[in-house]
This record gives sequence, structure tokens and C-alpha cells, in this order.
Amino acid sequence: MHHFAYRHGVLHAEGISLNDMASQVGTPFYCYSTATLTRHYEVFAQAFAGADSLICYSVKANSNLAVLKTLGQLGSGMDVVSEGELRRARAAGIAPERIVFSGVGKTREEMAFALEEGIHAFNVESEAELTALSEVAAAGGHEARIAIRVNPDIDPKTHKKISTGKAEDKFGVPYARARELYTRAAAMPGIQLRGVHMHIGSQITDLTPFGDAFALLRDLAGQLREDGHSIEFINFGGGLGVPYRGDNDVPPHPDDYARTVRAAAKDLNVRLLFEPGRMIAANAGILVTRVLYTKKGANKTFTVVDAAMNDLIRPTLYEAWHEMWPVREELRKESPQTTDVVGPVCETGDYLALDRALPPFHEGDLMAVMTAGAYGAVQSSTYNTRPLIPEVMVSGDGFAIVRPRPSFEELLGLDRIPEWLK
Ligand code: LLP
Repeated sequence: MHHFAYRHGVLHAEGISLNDMASQVGTPFYCYSTATLTRHYEVFAQAFAGADSLICYSVKANSNLAVLKTLGQLGSGMDVVSEGELRRARAAGIAPERIVFSGVGKTREEMAFALEEGIHAFNVESEAELTALSEVAAAGGHEARIAIRVNPDIDPKTHKKISTGKAEDKFGVPYARARELYTRAAAMPGIQLRGVHMHIGSQITDLTPFGDAFALLRDLAGQLREDGHSIEFINFGGGLGVPYRGDNDVPPHPDDYARTVRAAAKDLNVRLLFEPGRMIAANAGILVTRVLYTKKGANKTFTVVDAAMNDLIRPTLYEAWHEMWPVREELRKESPQTTDVVGPVCETGDYLALDRALPPFHEGDLMAVMTAGAYGAVQSSTYNTRPLIPEVMVSGDGFAIVRPRPSFEELLGLDRIPEWLK
């Protein structure tokens, strides 16, 4: 469910015509819907109504300060993976006790900063990291609250580049070694054991791997309590998928996901933590691009648009499918034609869609690339010296540019000429 819909023949973001927005902002740009963000957060939160829970939105999915602030005002905490993300969460007004810190490569400087801030918990991913955290905490007179991230060796049945819960993935501590590591952690200075953590992957559309993983988490929490550790929370990670492709991929409803979680946590009397990213942000954003040219190859048709792989890398990196809607509704009535949607970047991998049956887009037409609110803008780059594209947020009948398009001067001004070239 999202708030991008046709009104009077023109695609709107909530109350705003994307035609109007494009003429004011220029293309390409990302557009986010406040109502959609809010709805998704609330659907997730309501699924856990009555439970002691903390939702830590995964900042990496979309880290624009306006997005973070919108979610923070709804009560969301944040899951961060770098000092930069932690600073963003704090700048958006998120209380430190609602922030968790994940990632396999936290530096000692990042640990010290997060300890100073007083975050809720670190998700520790290895014994070496645990040792470093203990040293940093003890040296600074802090107590680091932690959960150990456990790798359950479960196949989440998603794209291989976004699976994190299999034995060969770099994440977490092998399940079989976790209990022993908790025993060691309990004796380390500056470390307070508080919970267990797992995150098995992203864009998961089947409940079975979640159920299998959560059952293991439940067993582990029980064993750890037997060993005398206080387990106050279980962090179930993120990973709930979204429907990129209409009826073709149907993710579980948050209520069904919640049933699986509740079954695993039953009678444990623990706080439930979550780190959803995509489920909150993906459908709340679109990428609006304009058709520059149409082009007939020897055996293919190409629709050349002004957005490229540097703006949205998901299609070429994960073979991701994003629906493409014409801003002008009339186009949908015409018979579809098969085309590659490609950008101006000088690489064959620069495409947004391959062999896609789409309405016959012509030069100048606006196209909305749907479900682009998560892992879109955050993964963009300036490759080919293309300035990062603007981000716009809509709320009802109003909108604001929440990240302006940088000028070429700003982009070139990031470089410095060394003395010997002057
Ligand atoms: N927690 C941890 C520890 C994570 O590593 C991630 C995502 C999440 C939570 C949030 O997962 P979500 O609910 O969004 O599935 N760039 C890729 C996705 C990378 C996901 C990385 N980790 C893509 O565009 O598909």
C-alpha cells in the first residue's frame, strides 16, 4: 500500500502532481511520501501491539534526515552501522537509548563515540570485536550493553548478495559457538550482556526461514538463561520483504510475521527488538525520471532516460525488478512494447529494466520507478560525474526538497589540485 496514485490522469504523490514537481525540481529526483512511511511504520508497530517492543528502523535503507525525523516522531528507534549513521540518527532527534549499532567492522573510534552517546546496545559480530569493545569500554569507564549476533546457517531464500544468515556469510558468530562466547563475554570488563541478535537477510518473502531462525534464537535464549546470563531482549533483525513485482512476489503480512515472532518469544518474558528497513521505506519512495530518447537497436528497443545506475543501482546489482509507471495515465491505455530502460552512464550494466513490456514512452515523458524508497538514494554515487539527485518529501498537499541537487561547482570543488600541478 502506498500513496502514489493517478488523479485526473496524472500520477500524484499524495496531493502533489509529479508533473508539477518535475517542472519545479527538475529530473531525475527521488520523491518520498510521508503518509506511506507513516502507514508502514504503524502497520509494523501495530502487529506488536501489547508486547514490550522497540522498533529500530534500519537507517541504511534510507538515511535522509527528514525520513529519520518522520519515523522518530512516530516513536521509532534506529539501527545504525557506522558513526555517520549514528550521527544522523542523533541529528534527527532519536534518543540514544533507542539506538542499536550493528556491523562486522566497527572501529574502536566508532565504539568510543557510541559509548559516549550511551546507545541502547551493540550487536557484536565476532570474538575479536568483543575484545576490542571490552577494552574501549573499560578504558573510557563505560559499560557496553551488548547482544551477540548469531549466525544460524539458515538459507533465507533471497538474492545471494543480501543473504546474511548462512554459514558462509561474514555475519555473526556461528550458532554452535555462541553459548561459549557468552560465557567468555560475561567475564570481560566493560561488557554487560543484555540480549541475543539475529538478522538472516533482506527481501525475505517466505516465513519459513524466519520461523526456523527464530526457533533457534528461542532455544539459545533459554540456554543462556540456564547459564546464568540475564537476557532482557531478543533482537529479531529486519528482512521482511516488499512486493516489488505486483502479484508475483507477495511478502508475508506483518501480522503473520508477528505471529511467528510471538510464537518464538512465548513465555520468555523478553523485550522484542526489530530492525526493519525496506519494509518501512521501499514503497514510500519513487524515482522520477524523464525519457531522453527512444532508440532502435538491431534487435532491441531502448528507452534512454535521465536516471542511471549511479542513481539506482539495484537492477544491475541485484537483478532487482522495479515497476515503471508513466506519469501521464493515458499512456497505460496504449499497447505495451518491449524495451530496455537504460541510462546515460557508459556501461552496458547501466539499466533500470531489461526486456520490459511497458507503455510506449516517448521523448519527454515522465516515468516513475516504483518501490525505490529503500536502498535507492543511499546507494547512489557520482559516477560519470553525475551530481547526486535531489530528494523531495511530500506531506499531503505540500512538499519540501529534503536534499537539494548539488551544483557542478560543489561537485568539482570536492577535489584538490596538489601544489606540483599548480
Ligand atoms: N539489520 C541488519 C543487521 C542489516 O544488515 C539489515 C540490512 C537490516 C537490519 C535491514 O534489513 P531490511 O529490513 O531492510 O531487509 N542494498 C540491498 C539490501 C541490503 C540489506 C543490508 N542489511 C538491496 O538493495 O536490496
